[in-house]
Amino acid sequence: MIEILDEKIFHLYNEKISYIFYVMENQQLGHLYYGGALGAITADELGYFLERENKSAGTVKFSADSGMFTLADRSQEYPVYGTSDFKEGALDIQAADELWYLDFKYVGYEQVAEKKRTLDRPASYACSGEAETLIIHMADTDHHLELVLSFSIFADSSAIVRSQVLKNKGSQVIQLNKMLSGVLELPSADYEFIHLSGAWLKERHIKRRSLEQGTVSIGSLKGASGHQHNPFTALAHKQATLNDGVVYGTNLIYSGNFLVQVEVDEWQRTRLMTGIHPTHFNWQLGHEEVFQTPEAVLFYSGEGLNGLANEAARFAEKHVIDRKWMRKLRPIVFNNWEATYFEFDQEKLTTLAKAGKDLGMECFVLDDGWFGRRDDDRSSLGDWFVDERKFPNGIKVFAEQIHQMGLQLGIWFEPEMVSPKSQLYEAHPEWVVRHPYERTAIGRGQYVLDFSNPEVVEAIYAQLKKIIEETQLEYIKWDMNRNITEAYSTYLKAVGRPQTEFFHRYILGVYHLYECILTDFPDILIEGCAGGGGRYDLGILFYSPQIWPSDNSDAVERLAIQSGTLLGYPLSSFSNHVSTSPNHQIDRHTSLQMRQDVCLFGPLGYELDITKLDDEEKRAIQANIQFYKAHRDLLTHGTFFQLLPIGDTENEVAWAVCNQDRSEWLIGFYRKLAQANPPNVEYLKIPMMDQAKTYLINGAAQVTGGMLKEIGLKKPYVFNGVNHEQMQVSGDFQSAIYHLKEIR
Ligand code: DGJ
Repeated sequence: MIEILDEKIFHLYNEKISYIFYVMENQQLGHLYYGGALGAITADELGYFLERENKSAGTVKFSADSGMFTLADRSQEYPVYGTSDFKEGALDIQAADELWYLDFKYVGYEQVAEKKRTLDRPASYACSGEAETLIIHMADTDHHLELVLSFSIFADSSAIVRSQVLKNKGSQVIQLNKMLSGVLELPSADYEFIHLSGAWLKERHIKRRSLEQGTVSIGSLKGASGHQHNPFTALAHKQATLNDGVVYGTNLIYSGNFLVQVEVDEWQRTRLMTGIHPTHFNWQLGHEEVFQTPEAVLFYSGEGLNGLANEAARFAEKHVIDRKWMRKLRPIVFNNWEATYFEFDQEKLTTLAKAGKDLGMECFVLDDGWFGRRDDDRSSLGDWFVDERKFPNGIKVFAEQIHQMGLQLGIWFEPEMVSPKSQLYEAHPEWVVRHPYERTAIGRGQYVLDFSNPEVVEAIYAQLKKIIEETQLEYIKWDMNRNITEAYSTYLKAVGRPQTEFFHRYILGVYHLYECILTDFPDILIEGCAGGGGRYDLGILFYSPQIWPSDNSDAVERLAIQSGTLLGYPLSSFSNHVSTSPNHQIDRHTSLQMRQDVCLFGPLGYELDITKLDDEEKRAIQANIQFYKAHRDLLTHGTFFQLLPIGDTENEVAWAVCNQDRSEWLIGFYRKLAQANPPNVEYLKIPMMDQAKTYLINGAAQVTGGMLKEIGLKKPYVFNGVNHEQMQVSGDFQSAIYHLKEIR
């Protein structure tokens, strides 16, 4: 997978991609190519691309003795600003009040075959033989700095994973103003920048814009990856479609403040960079100290957006999320939040759990309100001991009751937060993230705990551990409901670290708590959540195989949220709960069928008062759960495709999943609004069907793959105002599920 030509050209390749970089005339690293596989290649052949005259007009040459050489017209692996390249760079350092113009020269390389999974920090991993890493050593001798650049390639993926380590060899303390993780240089600007953006209750909608000369960026400064933007982005070639054409993707294995920036220069070349957001970031590096960036992942697809989605999903499932979750069943969850909110006691919960069990559910998740004295969202965060008014016999007895019913138990925590009205706050007001100003911002009535302080993390873990042990817990819902403002840590002040390190240290503290839990309880399933989808990223997925993607559980709203999310993340990570109608967030009325059909794709759950259902609804839920169980693997780990153009304004949405040999498919078709007088029949093409095969549709009709590909499935409605008796689906918010099975 890694070939080194003439000791200066590095070719990482597999059957899907080639990634090539080289040592330039000035001994820095130049980027040459990332794209579809070129196969084995010689240095002579590459010479054709390497030999060039530098003619870009108006440039400043690199140095007086470098002839025509200038960085302005070279693509680079880890560019810095200010040395004949005027674009923004990935690394920015100063010492005292002096800005440094960095010049990292190539020193040597090494190859590493192992990429182990360790819980201390989220990062990609691989089993033996699946990945190789090329490590390039660089040095800036004038500034006494060493820079190590890592490039990993995986046998089964188009991904290139990049990260960097900087070491200060000098005696002077330096300030790291910016140190990004990933750089992708493309020779043209014929791309659309695609990002997943939105807000609370409408996360990760697909946004697209054409690139123009200049800079566009998205990012987060909230202390979390955020509801508003997501670290997954893509550059889709202007001619790329759902299933064809070149699309690049990028992501970060990180959950804190981030930046994705795309700059197009005067020669229409594109530089995408991604990493920790430099705003309010400044890391102090003393003699022999190192700073390590999070990993950035680059993806390539020659098969359009669906190809990119598959690359991103497979990579996350095999190389980021703990792989054991590919084998272990995701339980069908009943969550009591939208059924009870804060109004419950043990009896009400056990009644709900029993009703859920009768319908086929497998795990009861006790949401917010079980601890301290929490009757609303204004108190008790930080007091992770049971409220004995609600559980008079203690949490252990409740857990036993749930387990005796044959259900798993899950419990909600919000470990990073504290309520002003809590025992924890009374005992440790200094553990709160708060500036010495008199003004203290508050969100949802709560403060953020200072997770940059290891003592705080240990104290919270001690409380969690007790509950996990007492309840023999199988599942944790880890929530996080407010963002950080006036970031300030009394701990950092006391230990003499600058406050500008806070955001990164905070998120490292969050990862440390995950590490503690999973070291002691490796089989516990942690579902990530941050007021819904406020932290849907690969850093969280490294520890949590699934995430509650949005507080909006409305079926129609979820279509756009899920379509956007699945562009960058696996189906198995997207947790679904069937909720009530009218929906609690948007007050929309939808049928139970539509709600269940949307929730089929991904780990399934229910979150409504099931004791109030009528018999017909109960039968429909039972049938759906049975169907889900029969197809669970397909619906959690199947290969996912969009069948119709995606965006938040589309009226129709169609999703497909298939198994590995593509012999079995499930297709979900969803229509938001009914159309007046439509054609009497419409078809839904499935472009990825195998022409040579024959399939059974819903156990009845038999059609060929060619027909499905070229003509399509019949859309499930026939309604032109006069043929009521023929219609299968009518009115707004309708759906249908098709099951396709290869029979020869
Ligand atoms: C926000 C979550 O997203 C909800 O599902 C629920 O757990 C509430 N918090 C509880 O406060």
